[in-house]
Amino acid sequence: MSESLAESQPEPIREPIREPILELVDVVAGYGPIIVLQSVSLTLHRGEVLALLGPNGGGKSTAMQVCCGLVPIISGQLRFAGRSITGAAPDALARAGVCAVPEGRGIFPNLTVHENLMMATHTGMSLAEIEHTAFARFPALASRRWQLAGTMSGGQQQMLSMSRALATNPAVLLLDELSMGLAPKIVSQLYEIVANVAAEGVSVLLIEQFARSVLRIADRAAIMLNGRIVRTGPPDELADELSAAYLGGKANS
Ligand SMILES: Nc1ncnc2c1ncn2[C@@H]1O[C@H](COP(=O)(O)OP(=O)(O)OP(=O)(O)O)[C@@H](O)[C@H]1O
Ligand SMILES: [Mg+2]
Repeated sequence: MSESLAESQPEPIREPIREPILELVDVVAGYGPIIVLQSVSLTLHRGEVLALLGPNGGGKSTAMQVCCGLVPIISGQLRFAGRSITGAAPDALARAGVCAVPEGRGIFPNLTVHENLMMATHTGMSLAEIEHTAFARFPALASRRWQLAGTMSGGQQQMLSMSRALATNPAVLLLDELSMGLAPKIVSQLYEIVANVAAEGVSVLLIEQFARSVLRIADRAAIMLNGRIVRTGPPDELADELSAAYLGGKANS
């Protein structure tokens, strides 16, 4: 092809590859006799940020725990990279690359930042490597290397838990209420980092209750109400329905 012809050709529009990495298929799950998820189907594609939103008690955290093997599936399937992994143990899922930052962050408050990162070395990555990546991504942590994690601000603690999760080099990152208790400015900064992590190829499921700002970085969004996914679609289309979901879902009652 001549250079002039190549120049005249418009860039082909590249659709993102819609390749499922993690899927819940008709999942029914709960705690003992209590059914929480009532036939939930949700697909996370490679490299996308999927926001899972909805009022409290809807089952978002339960869905995340199903994804990490912490809540057993009564019926339906959990699939990873196209294969059923229903019933797999949490450590097997972690090794496969499904990594979660739970509600409440899951760091050790009485250990230093350094020690918290050391706890992530079981994944095979060296401490030097983990610290290098963590401090490059979150410079605020570098100067707090010897500080007790519990004495840091909420935002810094969230950075630490994300660093620990990313040390496993996950294919899938599940983040439960990243924004909890944090100022909007800090939340925006963390979301920017989440967007960068996704751009590096990590698929992210971002669970939030109220944070409308999450829609800015999400490729798609899903609304969960009373254990069911009631809507999935582009973030801009879901913004209005989100308000209705909260009003109808008695979010604050
Ligand atoms: N360990 C448990 N044992 C029994 N019931 C539970 C347990 N954890 C959660 N539930 C119940 O499951 C339902 C869904 O809870 P879940 O925490 O998944 O909701 P959520 O959407 O994450 O809510 P929030 O936005 O408040 O975090 C609730 O009715 C809750 O009481
Ligand atoms: Mg929750």
